[in-house]
Order: sequence, then structure tokens, then C-alpha cells
Amino acid sequence: MDFVGSHILSVQQFERADIDRIFTVADMMEPFARRQRVTKVLDGAILGNMFFEPSTRTRVSFGCAFNLLGGEVRETTGIQNSALAKGESLYDTARVLSGYSDIIVMRHPESFSVAEFASASRVPVLNGGDGANEHPSQALLDLYTIRKEVKAAGKGIDNLRIAMIGDLKNGRTVHSLCKLLSLYKNLSITMVAPEELQMQEDVVEMLRTAGHHVYITDKLEESISRVDIAYSTRIQEERFASKEEADRYRGRFRLNQSIYTQYCEPNTVIMHPLPRDSRMDANELDNDLNENPNLAIFRQADNGVNVRMALFAMILDVVDQVEQYARPVNWYTKR
Ligand code: CP
Repeated sequence: MDFVGSHILSVQQFERADIDRIFTVADMMEPFARRQRVTKVLDGAILGNMFFEPSTRTRVSFGCAFNLLGGEVRETTGIQNSALAKGESLYDTARVLSGYSDIIVMRHPESFSVAEFASASRVPVLNGGDGANEHPSQALLDLYTIRKEVKAAGKGIDNLRIAMIGDLKNGRTVHSLCKLLSLYKNLSITMVAPEELQMQEDVVEMLRTAGHHVYITDKLEESISRVDIAYSTRIQEERFASKEEADRYRGRFRLNQSIYTQYCEPNTVIMHPLPRDSRMDANELDNDLNENPNLAIFRQADNGVNVRMALFAMILDVVDQVEQYARPVNWYTKR
């Protein structure tokens, strides 16, 4: 695809060669993301970081990524703090905000709302998560992390064995990740969820059509016994009619060090898009995994900065100028 000036709304825009290009640029961004170097290639540019639904990582890492490229960030957080709460349409909001920004990242609780917003925007729009639909930049950073984590074992993405665990129905990160994985070869993917929260049928069909082996189960222990990646997800409480309904599923698939030691292979990588629900009744990835070297969740979150820098640089067509505006940092860094 031609990235320059494009919206990023769904991972289905990408072919495998596009992913390779994003990852090459993300690798190039590593010293900037780790604060060893800075660049001013986007000096004067403005990111409109529009988050109409709660976020920690996506909002802040998109903002940091833009700052690290030398640009400025303007934000709004929460529908109640925006004119959407006064009845303004997504169309009007997009027309107005795209007059203030060079590029926009948007998150919104309704599926396909970001595409609706983008259709009225005068600048490129990146989907920061639209309801239960998609989270393209998260899927890119997840796949980038998978690639990095299995490299030490001499593996690539093709032929991997992956378990996806938790609320697969409402988790937009796993929807986007599965669609991306359909571009790869000979994967074995086990979907671990209660029947009511299983992966949607069209996504399973897409994976099977791509030639992957897909297994559906609600048994955690046997599913994680022979996998390269155990990708856990949170029960998406905000997508349920009530907290009580979500409580029925909370804590069903807890992974802790004892279960890991008993069932997982020694190199199984543990991933989670975060936030993990660390409340006692959920504890989906127990704190006793924190010292496990295969717990990749914080490296995964860190990788979001590289990948998001790559997207900005490619869409705003400055990849070839990053070096020209770069210099080492002046301050102490330990990363
Ligand atoms: N992974 C993710 O989307 O996290 P936030 O909700 O904190 O942005």
C-alpha cells in the first residue's frame, strides 16, 4: 500500500510486504524510542490525539512517538470533555479537528466510528481502537513483539503455535491480530474462551481459509502446554451490559508462575495487550510472573513507541529525513 497520506483504519489494509516495511522502519526508530537519540523531523507538525474512551498506553505512546519525532501533541480525553457530549456529530468534529492537526489518532467506544470520522477528515486518521472492532496499531506492535521474542529461539512468525486466552469476542486487539496473522503461514492457533466469549466465526474462518489450524476450547492448562506464545486478554467489562455479567467470566483463565511451570514449555512467551486486570477476582496474569523472563508484556508496551513512530514517519513521508534531523540526547538515560 502507499502509506503517504493514508488513513490506518483496519489491519485488512495491509499485505505482508507492508508489515515488513513497517517493521523495518520500527527497527530504525529503536534508538529514538529508547531515548538515546532525538530527531526534529516533524518540527512544527501537530498530532490531534482524540481519545473518546479511556486509554493509558495507546494515547500516551502515540503522543510520545509524535514528540520523539519532534512534533507537538494536542489532546482531548473522554466524550464528556468534548462537544460530542453536546450533540456534535462525528462529521463536524472531524471537519473541525482536521483543521487544527496534520494527523489525528482517534479512539471511540463504537465500532466503525473511526472510519466514519476519517471519511470527514482532511488529514490522515489512525484508528486507536473503535469499540470491539479493531485496534490496528496494537496488532502491529503485538506482531512486532512476537517477531522479536521468538527470534532468539531461531523462529520466525510462520509456523508458530499461539494460544489466545480470555474475552476473544469483545477484545479488539485479538480481532486485529488474527487478521494480521492470516497473512502468515502454517500457524496453529488455539482460542481459549468461554463459549459465549469465543472468537467471532468470520475471524476463525479467515484464519482457516489462510491455511492455519484453529482449535476452539475453554480449557486453559491443556491449551498452553505446547505453544510459543500465550496471549492473554482482559474481560472487556465496558462491552458488557453490566458489571455483574462481566463478573461471571472474570478470573476464569488465570495464569500464574505455578501453572506456567507445570504446563508451559520453558520458552513460552507470555503476552497481553494490557491493561491486565490485577484485581483479586480477576488476576489474569498474576504478579508472581513479574520476574519471569518470558513475561513480555512491558517489552510489548515499549514496542508500541517504535511502531507508532514508524506509522507517523511513513504516513507523513519523512522516513528518509529522520537521520538528517537527528542528534544524540544531552541527558542521562538508562534503559
Ligand atoms: N492496549 C491498550 O489499548 O491499552 P490502553 O487501553 O491503555 O490504551
